[in-house]
Order: sequence, then structure tokens, then C-alpha cells
Amino acid sequence: MGQFLHGRRCGNGLLLRFDAAGLGLVDPGEPKTAPVRVDFSAGAIQRRSRDSLRGQNLLRAIGNCEAVLDATAGLGRDAFLMASAGKRVRMLECHPVVHALLADGLRRAGEDPDLAPTIAGMTLEQADFLGWKANGRFDAVYLDPMFPKPEKRARGKKEMAFLQRLVNQAESSRGSRDSAASELLPRALGFARGRVVVKRPSREGWMNDCKPDFSYRGRLSRFDVYLVRTED
Ligand SMILES: C[S@@+](CC[C@H](N)C(=O)[O-])C[C@H]1O[C@@H](n2cnc3c(N)ncnc32)[C@H](O)[C@@H]1O
Repeated sequence: MGQFLHGRRCGNGLLLRFDAAGLGLVDPGEPKTAPVRVDFSAGAIQRRSRDSLRGQNLLRAIGNCEAVLDATAGLGRDAFLMASAGKRVRMLECHPVVHALLADGLRRAGEDPDLAPTIAGMTLEQADFLGWKANGRFDAVYLDPMFPKPEKRARGKKEMAFLQRLVNQAESSRGSRDSAASELLPRALGFARGRVVVKRPSREGWMNDCKPDFSYRGRLSRFDVYLVRTED
């Protein structure tokens, strides 16, 4: 597993370790697998945020909204895409290990002159959106909680598989995953001035069975858009 400076067991057999490349999540049972870390300079994330930015369904769904709350930030890939398109993105992540990975990725990216301007548009807080308080609203609130049937999304994607192992364990020890998930949409609607965007698996139903105003559908995922009509 190479040299590392600090390591800490963090649930479901995974180890959070700090090495010269930063913070990473590893499975000690899979010593040949590279650590999962947040690396905004990686090829895939760079391609996604450079090429045909306007054609991305997430950005089409967010539309002209400038101030976005990403209430379920995860490893920050969607937030980075939105920030690459010039959005100001405030991120919330409730899981301490996922938050630590993302905070470390942001720190390293902030030191990279090519990435720093994008990172400057992103802020991160460790918080559970369901108990979070803020003054004012956001142009858009984005929700991408764990997909209802995680194993499909995780297939072949190590990052998502690790994330699911961590987050699902935390949720099952907290209990009532479904009731918590059902609170996300009404809460997001309360924080949005313009719209709420919900990422879903393409073939799954709407969140809370609530029909969106419109959707952008891709091969694997779909972005459901709920428009908010407010007086202010
Ligand atoms: C599927 S991941 C998000 C992936 C993210 N969109 C990305 O691009 O990397 C879902 C994340 O939402 C977080 N989450 C779920 N419920 C939350 C809540 N109520 N408040 C804050 N974070 C939450 C989970 O801990 C998990 O890290």
C-alpha cells in the first residue's frame, strides 16, 4: 500500500490515510487498488468540465442560476462542474470522512494556479442539510443523495462504491434512511429562489413521487427540475 503518514479506520473496513499525495480512502483488503481521493486535476473531471460544458445535462438543468447550494456535495464533482461554468457553489456534506476528502481536494486544487480560479467559487461546510440554517435563499438548490438502488450506480465505479460503503453504514446506524430522504425535497424548495434540481437514476421514479416541471435525461441519470415561484 506504499508509504503513508497517518491512517485511521473509518467504517466498513475502509482506512482513511494521509500520504504525500494527500488524503485518500483505501480498502486494506485490496492493497493494489489506488486510494480514492478528490483530485480536480484528474483527466475525467477535467474533460467533463472543459468539453461541451453547455451540453451537460446538469448545467442545462441549473440554467442561468448563479448562486447554487449543493446540499449533498459528496466528492464535489458536480459542484466542480457547476463552478467551472461560473456558478458560485456552496457545498454541504454531512459525512465527516467524505467531507475530509473533499476539503483536502479543495485545498490541493486551491494551490494549483490552473484550478484556483474555479475553486475560488466553491465553499464547503460539514453539515447535515436537514438541520442546516442559513440566512436567505439560493438561486438553485441541487440534490444528489445516494441513488435508491446503489449497487447499479456503483458497478465499476470504485469511488461511488467506497462512498456507498461509508455513507450507507452511517445511515443504517442512524436508521430511518427513507424518512430522512423524503425530507430533502421540501427542505430544498424552502431554500430555493428559482429552482431545485434533483439527480435521479434514469429509470427511477421522481423523488417523493413529486412530478418535476421538466427533466433532462441521460443514459444513466436524469435531472429533474422543480421551479419555485416566490414573491421576493
Ligand atoms: C451521491 S453522493 C453526491 C455525489 C456528488 N454529487 C458528486 O458529484 O461527487 C451523496 C452525498 O450526499 C451526502 N448527504 C446525504 N444526505 C445528506 C444531508 N442530509 N446533508 C448533507 N449531505 C448529505 C452523503 O454523505 C454523500 O456523500
